[in-house]
Amino acid sequence: MPRLTRWVSYILTSAAFLYLFLYHNPFILTDSFSSSGIPKAKHGSVHWEKIPPKYPVETMTPLPTGAPRRMPPVQYDFGIEKAEDATKSEERRNEVKRVFEKCWSSYKKHAWMKDELTPITGGYKNTFGGWAATLVDSLDTLWIMNMKEEFYEAVEAVGKIDFTTSVMDEVNVFETTIRYLGGFLAAYDLSGEQALRQKAIEVGEMIYVAFDTPNRMPITRWQLHLAAKGYRQEAPEHILVAEIGSLTMEFTRLSQITGDSKWYDATHRIMKAFDKQQDETKLPGMWPVTVNARDADFTQDTWFTLSAMADSLYEYLPKMHALLGGVDDMYARLYERSMSTALESIIFRPMVPEKDDILIAGNARVRNPTSEKHEPQNQHLACYAGGMFALGAKLLSRADHLQIANKLTDGCIYSYRAFPLGIMPEIVEMVPCPTKDGCDWNETAWRAAVLESEGREPTESNMKVFDKRLPPGFVRIPDRRYILRPEAIESVFVLYRVSGRQDLLDSAWDMFTAINNATETELANSALADVTVTDGKPRRQDSMESFWTAETLKYFYLVFSETDLVSLDEWVFNTEAHPFRRPENA
Ligand SMILES: *[C@@H]1O[C@H](CO)[C@@H](O)[C@H](O)[C@H]1NC(C)=O
Ligand SMILES: *[C@@H]1O[C@H](CO)[C@@H](O)[C@H](O)[C@H]1NC(C)=O
Repeated sequence: MPRLTRWVSYILTSAAFLYLFLYHNPFILTDSFSSSGIPKAKHGSVHWEKIPPKYPVETMTPLPTGAPRRMPPVQYDFGIEKAEDATKSEERRNEVKRVFEKCWSSYKKHAWMKDELTPITGGYKNTFGGWAATLVDSLDTLWIMNMKEEFYEAVEAVGKIDFTTSVMDEVNVFETTIRYLGGFLAAYDLSGEQALRQKAIEVGEMIYVAFDTPNRMPITRWQLHLAAKGYRQEAPEHILVAEIGSLTMEFTRLSQITGDSKWYDATHRIMKAFDKQQDETKLPGMWPVTVNARDADFTQDTWFTLSAMADSLYEYLPKMHALLGGVDDMYARLYERSMSTALESIIFRPMVPEKDDILIAGNARVRNPTSEKHEPQNQHLACYAGGMFALGAKLLSRADHLQIANKLTDGCIYSYRAFPLGIMPEIVEMVPCPTKDGCDWNETAWRAAVLESEGREPTESNMKVFDKRLPPGFVRIPDRRYILRPEAIESVFVLYRVSGRQDLLDSAWDMFTAINNATETELANSALADVTVTDGKPRRQDSMESFWTAETLKYFYLVFSETDLVSLDEWVFNTEAHPFRRPENA
């Protein structure tokens, strides 16, 4: 009864998450808060750095000081571009820039200093603390697209953002780190503007207070106003592994530009715990989706994926190797070990009509070593994996991984092309081949899989009556939205810079025209409720998350730019597409 099982598992998962997010209070409320000792600024706000820690760091790991190692080149040697190719790329990037400019000017007009523009109604939303998320997230895009006037106007506005308070009760520490801290760091690295460095420090000081717990593990969904009042804090028992495992790049870069090791130390402590437990999980080599921060136990949960809720944990491993100039072996080791498990248990080749040689990063449920259940799912979020494998292949000289990178990226390109609007939905399921060597297309097996997923019998009449919106090879579409996400173009961009594959430029252009065509509104671009519609008229949602201008449009612009603009040999991108300067090759 697969259907029943699925529903039971949904209900359990939903219940667990409801509990996690609604009822789990990381604060020990019985502890009386000391209103004394918290220095107040003039406007009644808090100087985060002056709050006395309740659990001071005992031994601080300093930022590694060794000379960076010589790293293998990441970028393909492009040589001189043909004039006609250069012209074509220029036209394409100008079109990307036009779309960005339109979004930016609408943001300025209707949502300035707010987190997001609502692209249909022309209003705004505060979704990430209310600290002007779209503005901060887009600073480096403005710089890269050479919109210097708008850039300096935005830098001036940044001075007015107040990180001593928030319009929201709870702050997502991970999102604050990747969008705000990452945004300031990259814009500072690109422009050298001291005001941005200062702002990065302000965010850093604020978030650092979320680490003031008995074991120095952070509270990832953080009630900052309680912290400001001096409540004692404890890290929660259930948190998402990506939210604790991918703060490293931003914290390390902040230590690098300030010379203060405290941020590096804060996340290094977390990664040492991941290191120690890598082989103790239910799927040795990988870590599960939820982990226990209170006890620093990362081994218990049974669900494994490279996708949502785990993704950037893995993505940051090779990127940290690059950012640290290879002086700490731990990151390369964690990466190679986890990817060898992912290749065995997570990454699969789907059965498709033309036998395309593509790969998809799915999920696995592992209750114990003998009951491993593979889930042949493809999430849009997982489409970053091709770029990760491409970067890792170069940095660690793994030619075999470059092949994987190509096939994973092609898997997402395939999934875009398979749907009527040329856009891949948020989550789809496919039929796996028994091995990565592939398998012949079997229409009967596909149809039977679709019926099974619907809980219907594979009778002759059922086999004929079918959801017309399922392209061959796709079994179920648990989430039909497209919310302007970047991961597919991210991998196309990275793989292009790494391999020089020219066909990727046309794939990128197809993605761009399809996305813009379907999402463009009078003011900007909007999320879509369903990209599987066949009448060409997808319903729009009044939402444009900051990653559209921070990531999606930036990667589209860069893929059509000259290949030394933000070269991957000099820069490494955080998971919000913010480039940090790498140490110079010795
Ligand atoms: C195709 O799939 C059906 C159902 O799973 C199976 O019975 C049949 O043997 C398969 N055909 C081939 C040629 O493998
Ligand atoms: C844009 O969308 C319309 C309606 O779906 C379609 O007819 C047209 O071909 C699309 N244009 C491009 C360039 O994709």
